[in-house]
Amino acid sequence: MEMIRVTIDGREVSVPKGLSVLEACRMHDIQIPTLCHDPGLTDYGACRLCIVEIKGMRNLPASCVTLAVPGMVIRTGSDIVLEARKTILELLVANHPLDCMTCQKMGNCSLAQYAYEYGISGDVFSGEKRKLPLDGSNPFILRDPSKCILCGKCVRVCKEEQVNGVLDFSSRGFHTRVGPAFEQTYAESECLFCGSCVAVCPVGALTEKQMVGKGRPWETTKVRTTCPYCGTGCNFDLNVRDDKVIGVTSNSDSPVNGRMLCVKGRFGFDLIHNPERLTTPLIKKDGTFVEASWDEALNLVAQRFTDITVAHGSDALAALSSAHCTNEENYLMQKFMRVVIGTNNVDHCART
Ligand code: FES
Repeated sequence: MEMIRVTIDGREVSVPKGLSVLEACRMHDIQIPTLCHDPGLTDYGACRLCIVEIKGMRNLPASCVTLAVPGMVIRTGSDIVLEARKTILELLVANHPLDCMTCQKMGNCSLAQYAYEYGISGDVFSGEKRKLPLDGSNPFILRDPSKCILCGKCVRVCKEEQVNGVLDFSSRGFHTRVGPAFEQTYAESECLFCGSCVAVCPVGALTEKQMVGKGRPWETTKVRTTCPYCGTGCNFDLNVRDDKVIGVTSNSDSPVNGRMLCVKGRFGFDLIHNPERLTTPLIKKDGTFVEASWDEALNLVAQRFTDITVAHGSDALAALSSAHCTNEENYLMQKFMRVVIGTNNVDHCART
């Protein structure tokens, strides 16, 4: 890998050729605030919060879209940079509802965090604020366009990762907004409700509807687990509060799916606490299911397996397993059929 030498905040360092200034800084643990940058998406240069000072350049370039070149002298925290970042944040906050107390994103909002860090007062710029209607047209995603900071992360993740392209910018200037075409709601659009847009939104413009009011980030514990819906083996975090799962959030470091999930994995967790779930085995007696103990149910199954194999041979039985099960469970199922029952009549729903 070809390396180049650059100077960051007075320190000469080596970085691989081809990195952006932002990546070069982060590689050397120099933190730069970002709102529209995402390492998994193409850089866009929308929020301008990542600006730095570069010797020989008259403006303050956005570091996420500026290539690091040999001999570059970069200053990330000079007075002029900090002052410009403050102005950018003041402008963003000036057009924000500032309903942080009731916002679902509180505690997990990048804009609020930077506003706090940079001591933003919120009253430097006054004027009209956008008041756009909420989109609660579907059971999964709550969209509040008034909180959108136009970072475009949802647009890019929908286009580049989900390859669905449902979201884009429309209108211009003060009236610019992000959403499906022709001002459709999410429900009317081609949205598949994968929720990737929610996963990348840095503010409260896109939130998991089922989690609204259920708990703040500091009140919940994240428990990493594997999705039970199919055999792909996607990882995600269960958000647990008071022993109750209140939501699912994806994590970028999952080896199988990264932060991508399907609608069932991300939003179908309500089955966990569904009161209609079977918790006791049922045995059919005289045409009606009645509750039984596990011993009673398992003994009945074992007895019927024995009766059938004695009367008709092992091949009279077959087993169909499920992609909802783990690989280990599927392995055990076929092993049981082959070794215990004595038949190769095994199949799996995913084979078709
Ligand atoms: Fe660079 Fe937004 S992070 S412009």
